[in-house]
Amino acid sequence: MKVGTLTGGGDCPGLNAVLRAIVRKGSFHYGDTFVGFVEGWRGLLENQTMVLDLAAVAGILPRGGTILRTSRTNPSKRPDGVETCISVLQKNAVEVLIAIGGDDTLSVTQKLHEKGVKVVGVPKTIDNDLSGTDYCFGFDTAVNIATEAIDRVHTTAEAHNRVMVVEVMGRDAGWIAIHSGIAGGADVILIPELPFDVDRVAETIRQRHNRGRYFSIVVVAEGAKFSADPQHGAPVLQDLGQDEFGHARLGGVANILAREIERRTGFETRAVVLGHIQRGGSPSAFDRVLATRYGLAAIDMVHRGEFGCMAALRGNKLVSIPLREALSRNRTVDQEMIDVAAGILETPAGRDPGVG
Ligand code: F6P
Repeated sequence: MKVGTLTGGGDCPGLNAVLRAIVRKGSFHYGDTFVGFVEGWRGLLENQTMVLDLAAVAGILPRGGTILRTSRTNPSKRPDGVETCISVLQKNAVEVLIAIGGDDTLSVTQKLHEKGVKVVGVPKTIDNDLSGTDYCFGFDTAVNIATEAIDRVHTTAEAHNRVMVVEVMGRDAGWIAIHSGIAGGADVILIPELPFDVDRVAETIRQRHNRGRYFSIVVVAEGAKFSADPQHGAPVLQDLGQDEFGHARLGGVANILAREIERRTGFETRAVVLGHIQRGGSPSAFDRVLATRYGLAAIDMVHRGEFGCMAALRGNKLVSIPLREALSRNRTVDQEMIDVAAGILETPAGRDPGVG
C-alpha cells in the first residue's frame, strides 16, 4: 500500500520515533511504500514531498524535531485548500494519509475524512490537552525538562533569598505546569483552568516567608489567566498576531507576575521563561517507547481499515477512537490532579485549598 504522512503544528520530542515506527513496520511487515509531505499541510498544498524509506528513518529515534519539518499552515484558509490536498494525494497515488498533529492538524484530517479520503491520525501535543487519549508523546520529555529547570532555579532562589517565577508551556491546559510543579516542589502552581488572584499569590508567599522560609518557587503556565475576578481573566499575549488556526502567541505572564509579587511582598523576585527549550531536543526513554507504540498502532490501523480514527492511549493500551471524539473538546487538568497539587501546597489561613 502507498501511505502518505505529515507532521503538523508545533513540534514535539518523539515525532521522529513515530515516523520511524510507521516506516519500519509498514516496510517489514506489510510491504508498504511511503511518501512524506514536508512542513505539514504546506507540503500537501504545494506538492512538496520527500522520500520516506528505511534509509530516511535510520538513526532518527533519539532526534528531536521532525525530519519532515512542520508548519501551522491551514488548508481551510486557502481557496480550495482541502480540494488541493485531495488532488495532490491522488497525484502521488497515496492510498492512505497518516497525519501526526494536535487538534488543528487533526481537524483538517477530519475534513479530509468527511470528503472520503482514507486517513488515520496520531495525536501530538506537548500541552497534553487532546481529549480521547491519556498521554501524548513529548509530554514526559517536557515535564522532565521543566522539572530539571525548577530544580536548578531552586538552588539559586535559595542562595539569594528570592522568589523565582518559572513560566512553562500550556496554552489552554496546565498539565506541564501541574506535573513539573509537583515534581519540582513548587510553592505556588498557576494553571489556565483556574484564573488566579495575584493578591492571593502574594499572601501565600508572605505566609510561607513568615514561617521562616526565605525563598519561594512559583510555576505558571503560559496560558494562566491573571485576574482578581475569575470570570474575566485573560492570558498574557506576546503580540496581537494570530496563526492560521486563530491562535495568538502567548508568553510573558511570568514577567508581569514577578513584578506584581515583588511590589506586593517586597521580596526580590525574578522570572524565567522556559519556552521552546521544553519542546526541543531528544525525547525521554518513556516518550521514545510511547511514540514507537503510537507509530505501530497507526500503521496497524491503516491495514485494519480503521479510517477517520486516531490512535489513543487509554490506561496502558493503544486503542483506536474516532477523530471527532478527540476533537470534541480540550482535555484540561482534572480535579484529581488539582487535588494532588492542593494537598501539598500551603494556602493562606481561612482560604479554600487550591492551586495558587
Ligand atoms: O500548542 C503547543 C504549544 O507548544 C503551546 O504551548 C505554545 O503556546 C505554542 O505551541 C507555541 O507555538 P509556536 O512554537 O508556534 O510559537
